[in-house]
Amino acid sequence: MRMTVIGTGYLGAVHAACMADLGHEVLGVDTNRDRIEMLANGLAPFYEPGLDELLDRGVRNGSLRFTTSMAEAAEFADVHFVCVGTPQQDGADRADLRGLHSVVDELAPLLRRDALIIGKSTVPVGTATDLASRAAGLAPADVRVELAWNPEFLREGLAVEDTLYPNRIVVGVTSGAADATIRSIYRPLLSRGTPYISTDLHTAELVKVSANAFLATKLSFINAVSDMCEAAGADVVTLSEALGYDERIGSAYLSAGLGFGGSCLGKDVRAFIARARELGIEDSLSFLREVDEFNLRRRQRTAEMARDVVGGSFAGRNVAVLGAAFKPDTDDIRDSPALAVARAAQREGARVRVHDPKAMDNARAAYPELDFSPSAEKACEDADVVLHLTEWREYSDIDPEILGSLVRERRLIDARNKLPLDRWQAAGWSVRALGRKAS
Ligand code: UDX
Repeated sequence: MRMTVIGTGYLGAVHAACMADLGHEVLGVDTNRDRIEMLANGLAPFYEPGLDELLDRGVRNGSLRFTTSMAEAAEFADVHFVCVGTPQQDGADRADLRGLHSVVDELAPLLRRDALIIGKSTVPVGTATDLASRAAGLAPADVRVELAWNPEFLREGLAVEDTLYPNRIVVGVTSGAADATIRSIYRPLLSRGTPYISTDLHTAELVKVSANAFLATKLSFINAVSDMCEAAGADVVTLSEALGYDERIGSAYLSAGLGFGGSCLGKDVRAFIARARELGIEDSLSFLREVDEFNLRRRQRTAEMARDVVGGSFAGRNVAVLGAAFKPDTDDIRDSPALAVARAAQREGARVRVHDPKAMDNARAAYPELDFSPSAEKACEDADVVLHLTEWREYSDIDPEILGSLVRERRLIDARNKLPLDRWQAAGWSVRALGRKAS
């Protein structure tokens, strides 16, 4: 099937490449010329495992093309996926829908045949209905535009896998025809038995924000228990493992530590609360405010722990930071807990040196005041404390003996609970971790 994918960020670029991989003819659309040029050359504009290969293959076999022209998009296909960002509004908790509005405002008047617009962005409930009337008002009189919503649940770092092997497909539709079109787009996935839930627009929109709010709540819950473990001298890693065997709880998303960051969870929780307020049911979701605030306090707590470890003040101390991305396997630094801690130490007078396997360019561009090192070892030279803030695999493989010979003091804070601490302890490191006994 022919389709466009409008918006080629982390979501859209992956969706476009994966749809081409499923055998569709895909035109990716974006206003950012540099990004479109890279994509048209088969190159991913950001680090996402597996994406380069898919882009390269799609571009070379002609199933995947890119453009900045909305007129070309309107002409090319009758199915348009919209994948633009819905960031948090400046100075407010609500989602900023201007990107979505401008896609509809530009696309609808250019349509010459009936079209199906399928939104994938995360939106406040009610957005799809509003966009449907907006599109109907702007499209030529003889053109019928239908809106559907098909939220995306992909995780950065696993985006290709999550798109090609999703654990469910959720669609909100207003007609059987739209449902049939979406089913045929995803036929290869459906024939593999992927659960398909077809519902109304509002429910589909709400599934996505509810999923993210639930995940955020689960994480803040385990992090709260982590504080209890620390205060009582218990171990949150063992506790999580034991909880996870209960199928009703499940082991996923139960790694306690520095908390969640990234472009989705925090802003989606806030937008959910804001929408609840607009709908007059703020009290029902008020606990989410605490979920969000508690999560942000993890960063403060980690910085406090580091300050404590170096003797009560960061002034003049060397702090090595391992990790800048908001999680491993991505170069995305949006709302990165690791960088929040690094900046807090730097603001209080520490000399902070950061290393990250993939996110250094993005981090340097956003925070030029921090120092960056080309390797973990270099970042740790003469360090008074080493902070493990993003759990890249390569950090688990560090030899604590060798690293110990480079630092000024063998002090480690494992804020992700992912390092083999017994090895570090055996090499003479004093270790602190969130939710575990100090040693
Ligand atoms: C999330 C949702 O998982 C995804 O379904 C949605 O489409 C977008 O938002 P993403 O932001 O890519 O995906 O990352 P995710 O893997 O969910 O991690 C979010 C944050 O939580 C990261 O900062 C991660 O380090 C943290 N996290 C996750 C934990 O601290 N512990 C865990 O057990 C899991």
